[in-house]
Order: sequence, then structure tokens, then C-alpha cells
Amino acid sequence: MKTVRWGILGTGKIARAFAEALKETPDAVLAGVASRRLDGAQAFAREFGAAAAYGDYQALADAADVDLIYIATPHPMHAENALMALNAGKGVVCEKAFTVNRREAGQVVALARRRRLFLMEAMWTRFMPSLAEVRRIIASGEIGPVQLVTADFGFAASFGPEHRVFNPALGGGALLDLGIYPLSIAAALLGPVAAVSAQAELGPTGVDVQTGFTLRHEGGGLSVCSCSLLARTPCELTVSGPLGHVRMNTQFHRTQSVSVVLADGSSRTVDTPFIGNGYAHEAIEAQRCFSAGLIESPGMTHDETLALMGVMDTIRAQIGLRYGADAD
Ligand SMILES: NC(=O)c1ccc[n+]([C@@H]2O[C@H](COP(=O)([O-])OP(=O)(O)OC[C@H]3O[C@@H](n4cnc5c(N)ncnc54)[C@H](OP(=O)(O)O)[C@@H]3O)[C@@H](O)[C@H]2O)c1
Repeated sequence: MKTVRWGILGTGKIARAFAEALKETPDAVLAGVASRRLDGAQAFAREFGAAAAYGDYQALADAADVDLIYIATPHPMHAENALMALNAGKGVVCEKAFTVNRREAGQVVALARRRRLFLMEAMWTRFMPSLAEVRRIIASGEIGPVQLVTADFGFAASFGPEHRVFNPALGGGALLDLGIYPLSIAAALLGPVAAVSAQAELGPTGVDVQTGFTLRHEGGGLSVCSCSLLARTPCELTVSGPLGHVRMNTQFHRTQSVSVVLADGSSRTVDTPFIGNGYAHEAIEAQRCFSAGLIESPGMTHDETLALMGVMDTIRAQIGLRYGADAD
């Protein structure tokens, strides 16, 4: 496989984790990083060995020596940043939540399809060894046909109201930040969502601080999911059939083990180690697809991203949560 030249757009928390992961990703080079401030980009480039530092995002999009741009900005900037990169002819890997709403996601996907450029939502759990092991166990028939997925993702956020997880202008709220994980993995295991029913508590800034939602899947089966910025939950995902269940142990989105408990009383735990901090797996998948000339990953397709953004729109309509982008 030929070397893939990455650009990182934004220099916050997840950008740092991804840059760290690229060091452990075969055939990856960090060609450039962009920040709204040149000194910020330069400091990041020095720390992570990026070949170039840019003081604005457009300059990274226009850089001739970049193949894929990883977008690591807050949710309301994703669509604009992704459209910029795609318009400059770059492939894109965009952080979750992919955009603020289905309408924005549709614009981004349409451009990637029109220009035949690679585009993937950075739902890294989909590419983790733990999920591959869960799929293998399900396919073996050991737990029988899957009927129910239960999943929670919660922590007690101690940030102030201006922080992006509480700030409506930055796409804050438990659903977009955390709820997308149980939603996405439930859909990965049980397939497309036919209907959703949600309840939430909105906090002082107007965003959801915890949300519960139940999914009915088109092919049968239910998923019962929750996300919280108030409670430290077990962060487990359990997949159950008539013969037993398999659990992605805490924290399920980055678990190093899955446990199987069968109706006959037997149980076992399987180690599912990942590379480095875990983000290398999504980078490897993006590089594999990009190098093969694909415009999407079969593990996180455009249609799935669009459908899940639509489910989140429906949940938000039910819980009364609107963002600025919804008015456009
Ligand atoms: N996959 C995961 O495990 C994971 C974990 C955490 C977060 N995320 C996702 O990654 C994205 C970023 O989250 P984060 O925790 O890294 O956020 P963060 O630490 O706040 O960093 C966001 C970066 O975006 C850039 N930015 C552009 N416009 C901005 C604005 N108006 N306000 C603030 N920052 C702005 C800034 O970079 P410059 O100043 O350099 O321009 C900033 O450093 C979100 O989509 C989030 O859901 C994913």
C-alpha cells in the first residue's frame, strides 16, 4: 500500500489523540496540520512531527501534498470544513457527530459522491477488534438470533457552560457527543432503524444533559440506549439472544475485552486488544479504502451515516432540542 498523507484540521483534544495514533498507523504520514492560529498549528506540528503547519483551514485544504483530511472541530463546523476539503479535492474523515443534522450530512455526502472523493464518519468503534469479535460470536450462532441490544454511555462532565459539550453554539449535548456511539453500534449489529422513541432532560444551557432512546430495527430486534453528561454509567453494550449474551465491557466504545455468558451457565472473556490508543484502526481502514479508490468504507457507509443523522434529528424533534443549523 502506498503512503497516505494526512492533514489534521483543528488542534484540540481529539486531534492530538489522532495525531498520536498516526504514529502507529502503517504507511501514514502527517503531512500537515491547520489551526485558526498559526502558532497553535506550529506547536502541534513540532509536537507530533507534522511536515507543515497552516494558520487557516483553507490553506490545509489547498495543500498539494495532502491526501486525506481528518476533521477534528466542534460539530457545527464539520459540514463547512468537510465541504471545504472536498471542494479542494481532498478525501475526508470527519469526527462524530458527522454534522449537526441530516440536511448538512446530505450536502457533504452529495459532494463526495459527485466528486468521487473518499468520505468517512470517524466512528472508530466500528473498526475496533472488539466489534469484529462480537460480530464473529453472533455469526457463530452461539447466542442465537440477536433480539436485544442495550447500551449506555455516560460520564459526569465537570466543564463549564461555555465548553463545547454544554454550549449549544458548539453543538453541545449528550446525544450528539455520546449518544451517537450506542446508536451507531446498535445499528451496526441490528441493522437499519425503523422507529425511535426518546426521552431527555435538558440542562441550563438548553442542550440535553441525558437522553434515553429505544430503537426498533427494520429487520427485527430492539435497542435500548442511553447517554448522560450527569452520571458515570457502566458504559457497556450487551447483545442478547435466546441462548445468551455477549457484552462489550466498559468502556464499550474502546473496550479491550468482550464477555460471553450462555444460558447453560458457562461464560468466558475474550481479550480484544487494540493498537495504541485505538484510533489507528479507523485510520488503517480509511487508508485501505482510499488506496483502493473507494469513496466510502463498507464498515461505515454514507447511507448509514445519513440514516443515523436522520434518527438523531427525530430524537431531537421528540426531546425539543434545536440548533442554529436547523433553521437554515
Ligand atoms: N472519537 C473520539 O473518541 C472523540 C473524542 C472526543 C471528541 N470527539 C469529537 O471530536 C470533535 C472535537 O472534539 P474535541 O474534544 O477535540 O474538541 P476541542 O478540544 O474543543 O477541539 C476542537 C478544535 O476545533 C477547532 N475549532 C474551530 N472552531 C472552533 C470554535 N468555534 N470553538 C472551539 N474550537 C474550534 C479548534 O482548533 P484550532 O484552534 O486549532 O483551530 C479546537 O481546538 C467533536 O466532533 C467531538 O465529538 C471524538
